[in-house]
This record gives sequence, C-alpha cells and structure tokens, in this order.
Amino acid sequence: MKEEKIQLFDKTFKPYIRHERIIEAIDGVAKRVNADFRGCTDIPVILCVLNGSIPFTGELLQRLDFNCQVISIKMSSYQGTQSTGTVLNVMGLTSSVRGRRVIICEDIVDTGNTIVALKEMLLDKEGAADVRICTMLLKPEVYDKPVKLDYVGMEIPNDFIVGFGLDYNELGRNNKDIYVIDKPMKYYILFGPPGAGKGTHAGAIAQKYNLKHISTGELLRAEIAAGTELGKQAKTLIDAGSLVPDSVVEGMIETAFDSYPDVDGFLLDGFPRNLSQARDLDKLLEKRDESVTAVVGLMIDDNTIRERIKGRALIEGRADDASDATITHRIETYHAQTEPLIDYYKAAGKYHDVHVDCGTIEENRARVLALVDSIA
Ligand code: IMP
Ligand code: MG
Repeated sequence: MKEEKIQLFDKTFKPYIRHERIIEAIDGVAKRVNADFRGCTDIPVILCVLNGSIPFTGELLQRLDFNCQVISIKMSSYQGTQSTGTVLNVMGLTSSVRGRRVIICEDIVDTGNTIVALKEMLLDKEGAADVRICTMLLKPEVYDKPVKLDYVGMEIPNDFIVGFGLDYNELGRNNKDIYVIDKPMKYYILFGPPGAGKGTHAGAIAQKYNLKHISTGELLRAEIAAGTELGKQAKTLIDAGSLVPDSVVEGMIETAFDSYPDVDGFLLDGFPRNLSQARDLDKLLEKRDESVTAVVGLMIDDNTIRERIKGRALIEGRADDASDATITHRIETYHAQTEPLIDYYKAAGKYHDVHVDCGTIEENRARVLALVDSIA
C-alpha cells in the first residue's frame, strides 16, 4: 500500500478505513437513530458540528426517514494532532433549539471534551428538551467522561486520523477514505562484542523508548528450552560457540517484527552478527518501507570480554560462556564476522558507540542512555 500514502504538511498518513467500511458504519447508526425517532410527532434537530462532521451528517441525513431540521455549530478543541483540553465555541448555533430534541452529529469523539461541553450548553444554556449524541467514530481508550454516547458508528484505537471530514490543520477533509498517521518504526541495533553488556542495558533502553527488545540468543534459548526441532539444531551449534544459520535467525526476527504492533520500534540484540545478515536486514526492512534507525555500539577490549564472560558463566551457568577455548572462539568470531559491521553502518551514517570498559553498571547504563538520547 506504499503508493497510496498521502502527505499533509509535515506528516505522512497511510490508508486505514476504506470508504465502504465507513458507509457500513453510517448505515448501522442510521438504523438505530431511525428506530428511535421514526414516527415522532416533533421535529428533531440534527446538529452538525462543523467542519469535521459535514460528510458524516450528509450521509446520515440521506438515511433518516423522519422529518428533521438541520442546523450547525462550530467548536474547536484540536490544534495540530493534539487535543488542547479547552473547547472553543467558534460559531454559535445557526438556529434556536429551545424546547427541541437534538441529535448532535460528531465526526469523532476523542477525550469527549467537545461533545460533553456541547451537550451541557444545549441543555443548560440553549434550553434543548433532550440531547442525544451520535458520533461516526469513538476512541474508547481516550474517552473518559460519564456521559452516555447514544449512537456510535465505529470504535478505533487512539491514533490520529484524517479523511472523510477529519483534518490535520484543515487539510485532508476531502478524502473519501480515512487515513492514519504513519509513524516510522524505529529499528535500533545494540552492537558490541560478547560480554559488553548488551543484555544488561537493553531493558533500560527498550523501556525508555517503548521498544521491543529482541535478543536472538534469547529467542534461540527459548526454542531450545521448548525442545523444538529448530532448538535442537541450534543447541549443537551454540554450545560449540558457532553461529546459527542466517535464514533461521532472520525467520525468527521477521516473526518478531510482526508480533508487537503497539511498540514504537525494536531493539535488536545479537543481530545482525555478520555482513550478510546486515544486508538481509536492510532488504527485509525495505520490503516494509522502513530502515535501520541507528546502531548503538557498546565497546570493550578483549581482556575485559574474557573477564566478564567468565564471571557470567559462574552466575548464569551458560555452556557457551564456560571454557577458555569457547571464549576464544567467540572473540575470534566477533572480530572476523561481526566487527566488519562497524564500517558497514559507518558508511550509512548510522554507527554510534560508547566505551563501557570501566565504571559500575549504573555508570555505564547512564553513558549508554545518553548516547541513545543523542541520536533519538
Ligand atoms: P474531543 O473533544 O477530544 O473529543 O475531540 C473532538 C474533536 O477533536 C473532533 O471533533 C475532531 O475535530 C478532533 N479530533 C479528535 N481526534 C481526531 C483525529 O484523530 N483526527 C482529526 N481530528 C480529531
Ligand atoms: Mg469535530
């Protein structure tokens, strides 16, 4: 759907709710309104909240089968993509509603500030006999008012949308479909030799930036623990300090990318480990219209690697950390296969690193977070 994105000022939006689906929701709302008002002896007022509700009110009206009067009002609570919390009455009612039953037509209820202020004003100040709320869309995660929403077309998650009347700084209202803001996912690579502290600091980085931490080592150890076929193959290789085949690791990574829609991005730990994986990652992300955001390198020298890995072997009992021969093999594998990635990502202008040889874990964590801050 790459080509269907739209650009409004500084923001990109991608298709979200098709016109046909919106119309279905309006059909549903119209049925419920008709069921309540059909055969009424008064003339209810349909109140269009300008400008966002123009298309919705227009479609709804064509489906109402009782006599009604249409009037408008203009309120404003949004600036850019944020609700300001204060509702302004920009243009008053185009006709009196005293003693009348009113159906407010809103494009979308978000915090509910607008609709609740409007309902109160119609009842208390304008003397309406009854006020019902009819909204095309509702963001239930944000709506926090005790006021009942009488007719809701469709519930949506808390994302900023445009189209079918909804705007971003007055643009986008004329689109037939609804579009959602397209925030590029972040893909950070936590890089460094074994024992540098990737696993130690990953949690803090992931939490601070709402990233999903993906450790290929942990994904593999989970497969091994579960005794899967993949796990059995991987165990032999890992125990010998060797790398698991690229295709296996990349399959696991791709599955992980699809499994966490609510994060702002991913923190890759232990992947890519060689140039071919780095190129594959670029291709995989390009397919998704995305790219590596930055590499965060944690640097220590070979002697520190040895000390730390030995210490960890005692605590965690990891077979791949145990013997001198295995440690030497891992260090050699790092220098031969993984280290060339530094130049690869430097060439792309994405490489950043910090030395974490000395100091406490907390001091190093502060250094690492400061580095991520400087590139985020
Ligand atoms: P509320 O007062 O927070 O419920 O916001 C209601 C008004 O905010 C709507 O009538 C819209 O004008 C605007 N609004 C809320 N969410 C969005 C959105 O996702 N896109 C565009 N406008 C929105
Ligand atoms: Mg509105």
